[in-house]
Amino acid sequence: MREEAALLQWYIDAGVDEAIEDSPRNYFASIQAEPQLPASMPAPKTPASVEFKQASTPAALPLHHSLAAAIAEARKLADAADSLQALEKAVREFEGCAIKRTATNTVFCDGNPASRFMLIGEAPGAQEDAQGIPFCGPSGQLLDKMLAAIGHNRTNSYITNTLFWRPPGNRQPNPEELAICQPFVQKHIALVDPVLLVLVGGTAAKAILGTEQGITRLRGKNYTYRTPYSDKEYPVAIVYHPSYLLRQPAQKRATWQDLLAIKSLLSSFER
Ligand code: URA
Repeated sequence: MREEAALLQWYIDAGVDEAIEDSPRNYFASIQAEPQLPASMPAPKTPASVEFKQASTPAALPLHHSLAAAIAEARKLADAADSLQALEKAVREFEGCAIKRTATNTVFCDGNPASRFMLIGEAPGAQEDAQGIPFCGPSGQLLDKMLAAIGHNRTNSYITNTLFWRPPGNRQPNPEELAICQPFVQKHIALVDPVLLVLVGGTAAKAILGTEQGITRLRGKNYTYRTPYSDKEYPVAIVYHPSYLLRQPAQKRATWQDLLAIKSLLSSFER
């Protein structure tokens, strides 16, 4: 019994938080079939009641043996995408980011790209993964209220994330995952060509601005961002992530100031 409890704890630590099917599915089987991997690689022992979430992609995924290869492939695909539709297709078909295997959906965007008011969050959570829509869970409801406070909604703003798949167990994106998705994010920004880019939360701010500074220092100031896919300098604002605000409501006051600054920036661009 103690062993079973330890095994369950190991699954929880690894981010397995849902039982999906009655019997286990061995995702390592297709990997074992690949010539590059040692034939002796053991299949994991999985109790019938616990299993990684079923991937929405075919079982035989090509495996990226090096981070550099995955980034290079993402870069090639991002280079070639000449429209948002083409970029979305490339992201959906991309197999180089391992978290896609445990995700139910690719979460690409929501809202109206023609608004050119672009928000980038961290990564899909459980509800976003289930529905394939960014910010549709509890933090999304608060984000909608934040947008409404400055006269915005999903018809006049455009929302995406730094990662297109849910990290298992809602853990934070790791640097490798962010690096793999970066070419897509860079192209995404160039294709939307935003009048203002709002980075939602510390992970998006650090990943996109390439800084180690924390969100508390970053928010409340104006920045610019350059993507390799455009000659423009995009104005950037940073706000606390709504999931942080749900845990720390006292920070809503500072966020209100940030939202007013965003509103005033947006109206200065309209003039
Ligand atoms: N948190 C994010 O950063 N993005 C989402 O889409 C949902 C929650």
